[in-house]
Amino acid sequence: VDTEAGSVISSMPMRCLSQSDYTVELVHGVLDPSISPLPPTIGGRHTLIVTTPSVYSLYGLGLETLAKSRDADITIHVMPSGEVNKTIDTVLSVCRAASEAKLARRDLFVAFGGGVCSDVVTLAASMVRKGLPYVCVPTTVIAQVDAGIGVKGAVNLGAKKNYLGCYRPPERVLVDQSLLRTLPEDEVRWGISEIAKICLLRDAELFELLVDNGPALIATGFDHPFDVGEKIISRSIELMLDELEPNCYEDQSLRRLVDLGHTFSPAIEELSGYSISHGAAVAIDIALTCAIGVQLGLLDQSSCMQILEAFDVLRLPTSSHLCTVESMTRAMESTCAHRAGALNLVVPTTIGCATFVEEFNAIAPSTLETALEFLALRTVRGAQKLSV
Ligand SMILES: NC(=O)c1ccc[n+]([C@@H]2O[C@H](COP(=O)([O-])OP(=O)(O)OC[C@H]3O[C@@H](n4cnc5c(N)ncnc54)[C@H](O)[C@@H]3O)[C@@H](O)[C@H]2O)c1
Repeated sequence: VDTEAGSVISSMPMRCLSQSDYTVELVHGVLDPSISPLPPTIGGRHTLIVTTPSVYSLYGLGLETLAKSRDADITIHVMPSGEVNKTIDTVLSVCRAASEAKLARRDLFVAFGGGVCSDVVTLAASMVRKGLPYVCVPTTVIAQVDAGIGVKGAVNLGAKKNYLGCYRPPERVLVDQSLLRTLPEDEVRWGISEIAKICLLRDAELFELLVDNGPALIATGFDHPFDVGEKIISRSIELMLDELEPNCYEDQSLRRLVDLGHTFSPAIEELSGYSISHGAAVAIDIALTCAIGVQLGLLDQSSCMQILEAFDVLRLPTSSHLCTVESMTRAMESTCAHRAGALNLVVPTTIGCATFVEEFNAIAPSTLETALEFLALRTVRGAQKLSV
């Protein structure tokens, strides 16, 4: 008997490999029956298209017309929107709708909406009959460059942001920039925050392009200048997929550059009772991280100011009264639990590059305090600078 293995007599290894490929495609006319790539994607499969009320009021007719153009059984289900409804109850309501629509093995879900919709559908698709395929048609900036193009889906458990979730790749992602035209200005802005994140990690030139064109893109829902908007979305997707691909299931490492802006932000969202949106919380987190980076000597003061001033131009918040030394220390503790004991705070070292601070203890309360005071003071001094 192997003493290490206790009473085990023999062990039989089993390999459980699972791999799937999918494509993220930039498309035009996703609701135009004559050119839409959605009907051929659906084929003859029974399909449950899941969307949210405001998206349904804008695009429901288009979806219904598209559904009628197919010789397939397509049901449209409208789930409640908003972060407060990103819950297991909403996932179960989508599962119930799938059951009522009689979706069989190999039938299809379509998530037609923002990040909340794609998170809920990803989880529902992983649960119904232990896994059905799903297609994403992301309709917000956050969903087009982040939430709707990866393999993760998660919902909140009470105050615990994204506590319940799964890894399940979509079958296909169809990104139609023109769907962003109807997005309220602030929702576009929150998406710009996730784009700023990927630029800060990987691409200084793209960051410049974003800052120069951000105000116009926010005002027009990425309609003007359209070509620049397309370039920004497409490059952001490319960079995001490049970061995600080697570690899709987060089983290789819990050190992920794309976690920039995602150490303090879950706590900021939770503490606000989800009244501060995801993108706004990410912007505040990035600002705080940059200020900490200066304190630790990882980021020079002038690059930090350049980033914060860019956020001012884009009207992204850089501070919140919810951020105190105590609350942000608790946020770091909670993040450590999520990252198997390590903090792995992603800190920009310049625009376009970043590094990790692995240890919780590397960030002393005095460092947090100085960084928070600096950001709060900056907000007080500049009338146009945003705090939430
Ligand atoms: N799974 C992931 O990898 C991942 C990554 C990033 C973010 N997220 C999650 O994504 C969520 C945020 O996503 P979001 O910012 O898309 O928010 P959201 O899904 O709540 O959408 C914002 C609002 O815009 C409306 N809307 C959507 N598309 C519209 C359109 N084209 N025109 C008009 N209104 C429209 C929605 O109905 C909603 O009211 C958060 O819960 C975040 O945790 C997940």
